[in-house]
Amino acid sequence: MASNWTPESWKAKEARHLPSYPDGAALDKVTDTLTTFPPLVFAGEARALKADLAEVAAGKGFLLQGGDCAESFAEFHPNNIRDTFRVLLQMAVVLTFASKQPVIKVGRMAGQFAKPRSSPVEVQDGVELPSYLGDNINGIEFSAESRIPDPQRLMQAYSQSAATLNLLRAFSTGGYANLRQVHQWTLDFMGRSPWAARFAEVSGRIGEALDFMEACGIDPATVPQLQGTSFYTSHEALHLPYEQAMTRRDSLTGDWYDTSAHMLWIGDRTRFEGSAHVEYLRGVGNPIGFKCGPSLAPDELLRQLDTLNPGREAGRITLISRFGDDKVEAGLAPLVRAVKREGHPVVWSCDPMHGNVVKADSGYKTRPFDRILNEVRGFFAVHRAEGTHAGGIHIEMTGQDVTECVGGAVAISDAALADRYHTHCDPRLNAAQSLELAFLLADMLNQEAVDRAQRAA
Ligand code: PEP
Ligand code: CO
Repeated sequence: MASNWTPESWKAKEARHLPSYPDGAALDKVTDTLTTFPPLVFAGEARALKADLAEVAAGKGFLLQGGDCAESFAEFHPNNIRDTFRVLLQMAVVLTFASKQPVIKVGRMAGQFAKPRSSPVEVQDGVELPSYLGDNINGIEFSAESRIPDPQRLMQAYSQSAATLNLLRAFSTGGYANLRQVHQWTLDFMGRSPWAARFAEVSGRIGEALDFMEACGIDPATVPQLQGTSFYTSHEALHLPYEQAMTRRDSLTGDWYDTSAHMLWIGDRTRFEGSAHVEYLRGVGNPIGFKCGPSLAPDELLRQLDTLNPGREAGRITLISRFGDDKVEAGLAPLVRAVKREGHPVVWSCDPMHGNVVKADSGYKTRPFDRILNEVRGFFAVHRAEGTHAGGIHIEMTGQDVTECVGGAVAISDAALADRYHTHCDPRLNAAQSLELAFLLADMLNQEAVDRAQRAA
């Protein structure tokens, strides 16, 4: 267990990007109540994810992490949860089938509300208001009243997270994720994508493999892995009063866990040395993500790894790089080298979203699909050169047919962005773009396996 740590020891450190509530007593009342509420996940589940990630750190598996930039109260609907879950399953099937490696599925779901913003204020038509900080803090509507942080929103976020997680558990173990259903997962509007045909081909081949196995006596009734799948949740542990209220001591081990999600990550803006966010997360036993952007120096990363994972437990740390497609090769290589030299067991994952935001001529914030893909290619190139494992992908995506990122096989043009631009924060890949990315990633993973075999020979 971490020394000199308590669930509230973060309060003595510098906390950036936390909301300032006009009524502190009202916030305390809400967090006191949340402290008495049931945990959303159990410590044993967080440990199971950590064990899966330890395998990925050892080069055996791939982490697929994705979902909304920001979940919202307005888009809370079972169909939206189902569609995002379904696209993640499709991506996982494509990746597993191609790479023959287990794919660990983690949603940016059931708690991904709070957002660090680049500016504390937003100006529209000469009017300046506090920025929108996520539905669990204030409202997106551009009015003075809506932008006041309201602690009651944390209660609604807890309740939405609980209901979302409940449905995700039902989908992943209740039959929906049965591999026999793989054909049925295709979304109607995916038909326009050339990759839909490739997916139909993959599901046909999986069906044949299942027929063969069934003839040999191996079927979903006897092998639970065919009936369902493990699915984990994650979010940025930004809102520390909420995370503290969800912190519980595990009755089996006596260790502390953040029970708001299986995995928590520290954002690029709050991962600085001595930060309250690093202090909080160093004391909980969950697997932790750590965003690595252009301003992170290798020696600082090593010190942070010593703070967050002094016991060098494999599966504990996932380093999520987010450089931008033009910076990834030069920026990531020194970090990979330093971590390898010091022998820290980490999962390397690529977030090709947050370094590739551009403003389109239409005024919309977008991410060109080509740049996303380029960053992923650069990430694989660095790991190939360093002899390390490209272990995962971290994306903002949705199962909906939105028009937020330009490009892809069903080319979304700048002019089309206005059609269905629904995100509450950053632009997301739509269902067809996500599937396309999965196929392109599968090719890169296969190449990695070929390179590895050649090196071993
Ligand atoms: C995010 O993942 O939504 C995010 C804000 O990323 P980063 O901290 O890497 O900018
Ligand atoms: Co984002």
